[in-house]
Amino acid sequence: MKSEATPEATDLAAEHLGDVISPISSGRVPRHVAVIMDGNGRWATQRGLPRRAGHRAGTENIRRVIERFADHGVRYVTLYGFSTENWTRPENEIRAIMRLLGYFLRREVNNLHRNNVHLRLLGHLEHLPKHLQRRVLEAIELTSNNDGLTLNIAFSYGGRDELVMAVRRLIEEGVPADEVDEQCIAHRLYTAGSPDPDLIIRTGGETRISNFLLWQSAYAELYFTDAYWPDFGREDIDIALAEYGRRKRRFGGLSDTDPL
Ligand code: FPP
Repeated sequence: MKSEATPEATDLAAEHLGDVISPISSGRVPRHVAVIMDGNGRWATQRGLPRRAGHRAGTENIRRVIERFADHGVRYVTLYGFSTENWTRPENEIRAIMRLLGYFLRREVNNLHRNNVHLRLLGHLEHLPKHLQRRVLEAIELTSNNDGLTLNIAFSYGGRDELVMAVRRLIEEGVPADEVDEQCIAHRLYTAGSPDPDLIIRTGGETRISNFLLWQSAYAELYFTDAYWPDFGREDIDIALAEYGRRKRRFGGLSDTDPL
């Protein structure tokens, strides 16, 4: 759909919403996209493969997805890699996913660094095996001064747990009850410093949030697709971002075109 707005008006609207103007398409682009990478298990089962093969294929997909988001001008990408609830999965699947995080970091960190990507981990680093903790910390340290795209990896992460952790910190820091406001909570979340996601994409056909970014998703646009995560490619991203560009975001208010 072609926008009626002049380029100046589009720029202003985008600035107001925190969006960016895409260098490769004409529309508004979310500044922050968060992704629930679902469907790895079913992708593998469909091919007669073990579930871990699906997670492996899903891991291989991460680079091309980040590259495509970056091509569009997206500034923050958050990937849901492992939830606090995923610890209830069979031990061999948990081990496989942990190994894949290590593999991803080993293989990608230099490339991410070269591309000025700033890597962050959202979640309980201390729950990961020691050698993986070290690898994650090294990657975070290496990329800490980069000011290009921010890549948040949510790992051993849960939205409710994140809120519990923030409340604990408030109490530990002795913040008086009447000083607690939204900003004060947001600053104590794992995502502190990143803007709220403008768009949350879930692959794999399910239409739920699954304890992901519960606080931050208050006004996110939601986009669901049947594509399994390993199959979610450049064209799917272009379609999702085009759909986002057509959404009218009002944040509880009214837009200029709403009748009074
Ligand atoms: C959901 O698919 C996916 C996961 C629980 C794990 C995602 C993990 C990776 C892509 C690999 C490691 C992560 C990083 C960031 C390197 P599912 O298993 O629930 O699929 P299903 O719904 O088809 O069973």
